[in-house]
Amino acid sequence: MTSTAHQTLLDRIATKRARIGVIGLGYVGLPLAVEFARQGFDVSGFDVDGSKVSQINAGQSYIPDVPQAELCAVVKAGRLRGTSDMAELAGMDVIDICVPTPLRKTKDPDLSYVVRAVEAVAASLKRGQLIILESTTYPGTTDEVVQPMLESRGLKADADFFLAFSPERVDPGNQTYTTRNIPKIVGGGGPAGTEAAARLYESVVERVIRVSSTRVAEMVKLLENTFRAVNIGLVNELALMCHKMDIDVWEVIDAAKTKPFGFMPFYPGPGLGGHCIPIDPHYLSWKARQNGFECRFIELAGNVNSAMPEHVVERVSEALNTARKSINGSRVHVIGVAYKKDVNDMRESPALDVLELLSKRGAQLSYSDPFVPELRHGGATLHSVDLGEALAAKPDCAVICTDHTVFDYDALVGGDTLIVDTRNALKNRQSPRIFRL
Ligand SMILES: NC(=O)c1ccc[n+]([C@@H]2O[C@H](COP(=O)([O-])OP(=O)(O)OC[C@H]3O[C@@H](n4cnc5c(N)ncnc54)[C@H](O)[C@@H]3O)[C@@H](O)[C@H]2O)c1
Repeated sequence: MTSTAHQTLLDRIATKRARIGVIGLGYVGLPLAVEFARQGFDVSGFDVDGSKVSQINAGQSYIPDVPQAELCAVVKAGRLRGTSDMAELAGMDVIDICVPTPLRKTKDPDLSYVVRAVEAVAASLKRGQLIILESTTYPGTTDEVVQPMLESRGLKADADFFLAFSPERVDPGNQTYTTRNIPKIVGGGGPAGTEAAARLYESVVERVIRVSSTRVAEMVKLLENTFRAVNIGLVNELALMCHKMDIDVWEVIDAAKTKPFGFMPFYPGPGLGGHCIPIDPHYLSWKARQNGFECRFIELAGNVNSAMPEHVVERVSEALNTARKSINGSRVHVIGVAYKKDVNDMRESPALDVLELLSKRGAQLSYSDPFVPELRHGGATLHSVDLGEALAAKPDCAVICTDHTVFDYDALVGGDTLIVDTRNALKNRQSPRIFRL
């Protein structure tokens, strides 16, 4: 714990002379790299995607949560630069890994991005370096996969180099909670790793929570995201139940959330989206299965949530039926396709499933989403249409999949189009043409 290498690292962190490398400059890595740079560290951002590297070096932000002016300021000040040259990792004191952790088609964890990033780190690992994994993953990844790869050249974790896992909890589009004020969980591969990583984050975020191991830190993140997936599954099931019983589920949730303790509101919708909630619980259930344990809540929530796009299409069918029309041949306009409000992220967006199911049933499709100018659908490219123009063309039905703030909902309700509202975007507006989830 008090080795010279460790003390030197702690001193460099305390005086902000530690050079920080962030691998993977996406939704997680870029905000983190900018925050380190803003707080006075010298930061190198590493990405295999040359276009991201060029944009960073030109001071152009491609992540909505990273304001252009902030990125530009740290690049101009020489505090942040992008590179694709992994050999430069050798010059870093701290390396933070923020690469994707998707699923394979079989829904098993795909650690290939992590493995490639760790291979690059291992190739030039130096005594005294601190390596932190931030990518969401199953408990055991850091000590079973990352640590042996790094130790393969003879250096020992927590003695020669330092290792930690610190889950990223950023919520894209959230204006209140950002990298700086979201508490950071840190679990090291040993006490020296925990201490070094905690001191590093304490110099850039408001609160750091030390936990006893990398496994605990990995599990914290999966608990958080599984909690969301399961509760969203519960309200989605409640929404279907309420529909059968002719009860407004949104009114029920709004009233229930007035309870000042013991209840937290979750909302139904067209299905799960993004890089976290639809994916992370599968990392946990996969690892649990390796240990002979079946995660029944995760499976059940997955079944309910993944069936939601079907229910949305069913509502479209019910809406059209009131006008004696079928989905087949109708012009259906999808409003919002990003996976959530006010972001441009399309990953796992349930709108893609809704589009696919509607098209299989013969609908003619169009969409509006100012955050997503075009998207690939069924081998063709669809282009976003201005919502006003789309409504002027009088589609047979409009489906709100994502309730972006910029949409003119009054104009939508003021027209004579049938509307399926999967997000309660038209709350407090009454019309026989509105069909809620
Ligand atoms: N997006 C979120 O809201 C969010 C929130 C919390 C945690 N996470 C987790 O953070 C991790 C990263 O997610 P993201 O959303 O930032 O992904 P992303 O796809 O936006 O960014 C990942 C970046 O890593 C780069 N990359 C891939 N392999 C690389 C390699 N070997 N070397 C260098 N660069 C490489 C990619 O080119 C890409 O730019 C994932 O594990 C995710 O689960 C994401």
